[in-house]
Amino acid sequence: MSEVSKGLENVFIKTTSLTYIDGEAGILRYGGYDINDLVENCEYEEIIHLMLFGDLPSASQLQKIKEKINESYSIPYQVFEVLEKLLQDADAVGMLETAFSMLSSFYNYPWKKDENKWRAIEIIAKTSTLVSNIYRIKEGMKPRLPEPSDSYARTFLETAFSRRPSDEEVKAMNTTLIIYADHEVPASTTAALVTASTLSDMYSCMVSALASLKGPLHGGAAEATFEQLKEIGDESKVEEWFDKKIIKEKNRLMGFGHRVYKTYDPRAKIFKKYAEEIAKTPEAKKYLRIATKLEELGIKHFAEKRIYPNIDFYSGIVFYSLGFPEYMYTTLFALSRVLGWLAHIIEYVEEQHRLIRPRALYVGPIKRDFVPLKYRE
Ligand code: CMC
Repeated sequence: MSEVSKGLENVFIKTTSLTYIDGEAGILRYGGYDINDLVENCEYEEIIHLMLFGDLPSASQLQKIKEKINESYSIPYQVFEVLEKLLQDADAVGMLETAFSMLSSFYNYPWKKDENKWRAIEIIAKTSTLVSNIYRIKEGMKPRLPEPSDSYARTFLETAFSRRPSDEEVKAMNTTLIIYADHEVPASTTAALVTASTLSDMYSCMVSALASLKGPLHGGAAEATFEQLKEIGDESKVEEWFDKKIIKEKNRLMGFGHRVYKTYDPRAKIFKKYAEEIAKTPEAKKYLRIATKLEELGIKHFAEKRIYPNIDFYSGIVFYSLGFPEYMYTTLFALSRVLGWLAHIIEYVEEQHRLIRPRALYVGPIKRDFVPLKYRE
């Protein structure tokens, strides 16, 4: 035992039937179904059933999932009270961490095989209440409980914006929910697994996952990528910016590169198509033109190192076109990814549980003679 795998690269922490990634070919499947087919044909609730119960639902199974979601949106009023007391410019992910921590004090359920999956659906519903209300509170609106509708995506948008979203907006929201739903065991899911392996409660696992998602190398990349587009400001400035920031100053190009994909991320392709469809305002179109040009330069420069656009390269333009400010992008990622986090921790605890306790290879001095304080220099 003397090999350290830096960044746990190529370490298998569990087996899974949830998500398959072929990083060489750029293939992503949930439970064997291609991501493109799922995005084209499914509602997010069908993916919830697929991830938690192993297959796409029948019509009656789908109905049951929707009913469970619709009856689980409520959260204790104290959570709204605390969120409202935070500063107006409080970090949105920090607010969600706070809310999940509070919910872990209300719903500290032990793991039970016949209850885990239904508890997970409750958490998915409550996350919609939290994320939509974090947006409301930060925009100076009063918090409100969701009014159940025919879909999770619609209810989320209606709660956040206090208006009926168009079918096109619901479809775009549904797409982002499905695309971000799971991605095997990235840093956030691994953090959730480590916490679940101690048999800590599900909400505490969500806190761990979210803390890890926040960083710019992971979920924070969507915001960081959009920040680049804003900094560039105009299509005509892309080359100059790229030359200075990426080539000369050697900054990372955000929204590019992936530990597993060594080709174009299939999710980025879907988001690019959606961004092209829903970017309607002059501002959104401008960001799309900048992103397209930046992608072109990025691929030209990085293809040799097999660094290509990842999911976060175009997601910001989709979120922007849906009407969400940049500060919401990571929480929108989390809104969807709670499903993957929950499905993985349930799969692990129910089927292959063991405490996760790796080792660190000691490389310090082997043995030293103790020197009392008064004799130390
Ligand atoms: N821009 C410039 N250079 C890069 C980039 C990038 N975006 N990504 C990797 N590299 C280079 C890196 O500098 C290093 O070069 P060298 O070997 O010359 O030192 C080499 O590629 C390997 O980098 P690494 O950091 O060891 O590779 P990794 O497998 O840990 O990288 C990554 C994965 C996502 C951390 C990295 O690609 C990155 O920092 N990307 C930018 C942030 C980003 O977009 N993150 C979102 C990831 S996808 C969604 C998600 O997980 O949430």
